[in-house]
Amino acid sequence: MKEKLQKIKEQAIAEIEKSEGLEKLNEVRQSILGKKGELTAVLKGMKDVVPEDRPKVGQLVNETREAIETVLQERLKKLEQEALRKRYEAEKIDVTMPAKRQAKGNLHPITQVRNQLTDIFASMGFEIYEGTEIETDYYNFTALNTPQDHPARDMQDTFYLSPEFLLRTQTSAGQIHVMEAKKPPIKIISPGKVFRSDDDATHSPMFSQMEGLVVDKGITLCDLKGMLEEFVKKIFGKNVTTRLRPSYFPFTEPSVEVDVSCFQCGGKGCKLCKGTGWIEVLGAGVVNNKVLQGCDIDTDVYSGFAFGIGIERIAMLKYGINNIKLLFESDMRVLKQIDE
Ligand code: PHE
Repeated sequence: MKEKLQKIKEQAIAEIEKSEGLEKLNEVRQSILGKKGELTAVLKGMKDVVPEDRPKVGQLVNETREAIETVLQERLKKLEQEALRKRYEAEKIDVTMPAKRQAKGNLHPITQVRNQLTDIFASMGFEIYEGTEIETDYYNFTALNTPQDHPARDMQDTFYLSPEFLLRTQTSAGQIHVMEAKKPPIKIISPGKVFRSDDDATHSPMFSQMEGLVVDKGITLCDLKGMLEEFVKKIFGKNVTTRLRPSYFPFTEPSVEVDVSCFQCGGKGCKLCKGTGWIEVLGAGVVNNKVLQGCDIDTDVYSGFAFGIGIERIAMLKYGINNIKLLFESDMRVLKQIDE
């Protein structure tokens, strides 16, 4: 019996040692220690052993079993470590490899300028109102003191959708909506697309404006001038100043055209300012009393100013773009250069 057990042990250990992989090791374990295993068979044969020898044989079987179990556990540990090592090897990342270059996008120049303008006016306490691109004749013209046969309608070539509806030609239409919905104090900007049948190097049938409207007690042209002075320094640089020229818009009285001192030549005269030292940047004025009254605002108490900025125009001036079409062609060679 002793020899038989010794043989089983030796054979088992040899098989365990040469088993590769966890599955194979499990098979070996079953064939020795499992229900139908060799050692289990010996235990089952105990009934044939004479009673006085049973304790001794039992002890021998147990020792054999423990010895095999120990070797098995060791082998198991080794195989598991090996498997883990292989996995680590396979999943290894070489952190010294050069990284793949990620293409980085940037915002469209019009979006960049719109964001810059919004940031500046938000810092001055303006709220944002977004109007709609389809408007009625009333909001786009009539309520802005431009009735049906008013000659100022010729200033803007309009896309009519029907006699009543049109594509707004100016964000000024939003002024009326704001004043109908809210009583003073009002301090809003309104960015958005506008449409005019107009097409050349500096005009596009669709472009973007940013409207501004302030209505409160005691607002004057001086407030407008002071605010614009702040604004142009922030957008074009701190050495830039403004000048107001008389102009005409039906919904402002007086109306002004705002020029900035040329930020390229400092006012000496260059190609950008066409030798004048000044560049026209926006239209503005004191809100016409007729417009305020149309919105039920008491003109004995309140007054206001309004301004309209062409966003493409600012972008073209800031980034030296000479044809507005470059802003709408989506040519990556152009767009990639402008990233502030
Ligand atoms: N709406 C005018 C335009 O598009 C600009 C403007 C806005 C002028 C507000 C005065 C006041 O030309």
